Amino acid sequence: MHNPFLNLFYRFATSASGQGFAGDAASEVTAWVSRRVPDLPLIARVRPANMASQRVAIRAGLTRAVHLDTIGYDGPEWIYTAKLPT
Ligand SMILES: CC(C)(COP(=O)(O)OP(=O)(O)OC[C@H]1O[C@@H](n2cnc3c(N)ncnc32)[C@H](O)[C@@H]1OP(=O)(O)O)[C@@H](O)C(=O)NCCC(=O)NCCS
Repeated sequence: MHNPFLNLFYRFATSASGQGFAGDAASEVTAWVSRRVPDLPLIARVRPANMASQRVAIRAGLTRAVHLDTIGYDGPEWIYTAKLPT
């Protein structure tokens, strides 16, 4: 059985994209998690070709955890995490 973790997901309307809102919002969520539930790992699942999503994860302070990469319903998923699950 897996330990509990939080899954950071973000989707913006095209009309609101490209203005830095996603990076700002993801950073706020990461900071909130760090303050309020510091013991819970936070991850983001990112498709390898999704450069914007990777930039958002990095800007939110997450780092790539290659050993957690997986195959999801739609293909490979790269895992970024704020806290490395052990
Ligand atoms: C992922 C998503 C939320 C990003 O939204 P956004 O409004 O472009 O985000 P931001 O404006 O905060 O910019 C994100 C970063 O990606 C970069 N970026 C945007 N489009 C890019 C592209 N096509 N290629 C490379 N980099 C890109 C921006 O330059 C920015 O980089 P920076 O932080 O170094 O300046 C948005 O594209 C989206 O909703 N996509 C569909 C849903 C999705 O894929 N969600 C993620 C699931 S894991």
